[in-house]
Amino acid sequence: MTSPASTPLTQDQLKALVGQAALQYVLPGEIVGVGTGSTVNHFIDALASMKGQIKGAVSSSVASTARLQALGIAVFDANAVERLAVYIDGADEIDGRGYMVKGGGAALTREKIVAALAERFVCIADASKQVAVLGGFPLPVEVIPMAAQQIARRFAALGGQARLRLKDGQPLVTDNGQHILDVHGLQITEPLAFESEVNQWPGVVTVGVFAHQKASVCLLGTAEGVQTLQF
Ligand code: 5RP
Repeated sequence: MTSPASTPLTQDQLKALVGQAALQYVLPGEIVGVGTGSTVNHFIDALASMKGQIKGAVSSSVASTARLQALGIAVFDANAVERLAVYIDGADEIDGRGYMVKGGGAALTREKIVAALAERFVCIADASKQVAVLGGFPLPVEVIPMAAQQIARRFAALGGQARLRLKDGQPLVTDNGQHILDVHGLQITEPLAFESEVNQWPGVVTVGVFAHQKASVCLLGTAEGVQTLQF
């Protein structure tokens, strides 16, 4: 994709650029792990050009499954797969060590499950997602509904304000039938320890910090083109 020097690429064009660039990590004959979100949607659309060369995909959401299948890409159940060479997904934030915040699209639990099958996590993101410290983006946490308030109090003790995510005025229900808390006001300076700690809290299904499963590579869409960051 090219752009006149005076016309900067839009955020969506940057997402399309990295979605296309991610094809270089898709190995012929393999099953590819596929994330969720607007950046991944560009990747899925690009992946259609390779559908004859791959076995198919393991998907991280109902929405990605529908998009893959509409393009004629076979979707495998995660239980049918022992390992994936690569998992490709977006992020809401990524820091200089490859640690991420994810879950803006409410798919964080299945994203972590599919990422855990993969040898490499390739993050695709526009440059606005790059941060020095995680937490500026409200941290998504998938919770069992009956535990939401006690988990909110635990975040308050850490200085965060947890808000139940709504959709059409009602609590958003995830693909797994659970709720999402979005936690504002955190500064996550120790992502590994933070993820381990929150994982212990009763009622937490998944915390949106991806530190134990950080990115191996990030394809970052910038005004100068796609930068490849290795972690
Ligand atoms: C979905 C996610 C997405 O990867 C994240 O929200 C980024 O989305 P987008 O590509 O639309 O900016 O974690 O749960």
